[in-house]
Amino acid sequence: MTTDEGVRQQHAAPPVDAFPIDDVRRRFPAIARAGRFIFFDNAAGAQVPSPVVDAVTDHLLARNVQRGGPYRHSREVDAMIARARTRVATFVNARGADEIAFGLNATSFIRAISLAVGQTLAARPEVVVSELDHEANVATWLALERVGARIVWWRVRDSDRRLHPADLDAVLGDRTRLVACTVASNATGTIVDVAEVGRRAHAVGAEVFLDAVHYAPHGAVDVRAFDCDYLVCSGYKIFAPHMGFAWCRREAINRLPTFREDFIPDVTPDKLEAGTYAYENVAGMEAAIEYLEQLGSGSIGAAMALVAEYERTLSSAMLDALQGIPGVTVHGVTNRSRLHERVPTLCFTVDGIESSIVADGLAARDVGVRSGHMYSPRLMARLGLMPGGAVRASLVHYNTPEEVERFRAALVDVIDEARGS
Ligand SMILES: Cc1ncc(COP(=O)(O)O)c(C=O)c1O
Repeated sequence: MTTDEGVRQQHAAPPVDAFPIDDVRRRFPAIARAGRFIFFDNAAGAQVPSPVVDAVTDHLLARNVQRGGPYRHSREVDAMIARARTRVATFVNARGADEIAFGLNATSFIRAISLAVGQTLAARPEVVVSELDHEANVATWLALERVGARIVWWRVRDSDRRLHPADLDAVLGDRTRLVACTVASNATGTIVDVAEVGRRAHAVGAEVFLDAVHYAPHGAVDVRAFDCDYLVCSGYKIFAPHMGFAWCRREAINRLPTFREDFIPDVTPDKLEAGTYAYENVAGMEAAIEYLEQLGSGSIGAAMALVAEYERTLSSAMLDALQGIPGVTVHGVTNRSRLHERVPTLCFTVDGIESSIVADGLAARDVGVRSGHMYSPRLMARLGLMPGGAVRASLVHYNTPEEVERFRAALVDVIDEARGS
């Protein structure tokens, strides 16, 4: 991709009749190795397709050297990083590969960017954070109070426990420096209308920082349509190894005083890539996006539209399964006509049974889920679910309706056992 090319075509690939689930599953070695085990904890980290394993291995076997050297191996590393940057730029619909920075994880990018933002508050000391977010996109901003930031909360509504962009108007103003919010809740799976957040924040001259970590495996990330200034993502949620990347609007990041050694250029991406990161994981990231592109016959937009469509069938099946069990409450969007407002991350509780008991029982029956506050303790408190939190089953495009049925049967069994029936 070249710099400043046109906005991504939304549905460029030909329509695909049926989701190629068997082919997809064959490409993930961990699924075959797992036997009967069901991966329903994907929000904490997804499995990788074999081209990702191959890319990581090839990097380590052939060129585990530092970039920037004059010899062949080092040049190959430079070339790989450049290719990966371009692929990730396509993945998020950036204007150019220079807007992508690689690093350890999403949290460290939020921290690095927030520290820089904290030095530029001046007449705009207010930072808006949301009650729906993962703590990584909350605590990092709260830490700016030490340098004079005033934190303003964007709360979920009592009626539906969702963030409504219209409510932002009451908290935005000419003192707002930035709005930090998630694209989708890692706890309840609810999607936020971030384009509307961007419109309202920009109308008052504030910037927008989006956490796309939870949303990215489920739908098209489009920084131009989202109308944001910064966005972070984790590789290990999008079928790549453990690493993270940030997209920053060139003009926004180039204005910020990030930490870098004096001899490092004060422009993106260099100014955000302090030190060395795991190049082998960047090689894996490139392969992961190539894998996704292939699902859409070469178009990442088409691939993610296809994934989202298939995942809505999983959301629907999960809701049918959970709501069919007496005593189970789903926290999040349950209306079948609004499935496009959620990803297949199902947060639920069972009357009278602790969430950890449910998760342990499912683990004993070869179903991997998670319980607790999901790193969103404020949201969980608002839902009235603390201290025990909830159970979270988080699905991705390699999961199947058959797995949902096995999950349902296992859950019924766990509940019967816990109730002694
Ligand atoms: C929504 C969300 N944001 C941020 C993070 C933190 O990501 P990382 O582990 O890459 O720092 C997570 C991790 O689960 C997450 O789900």
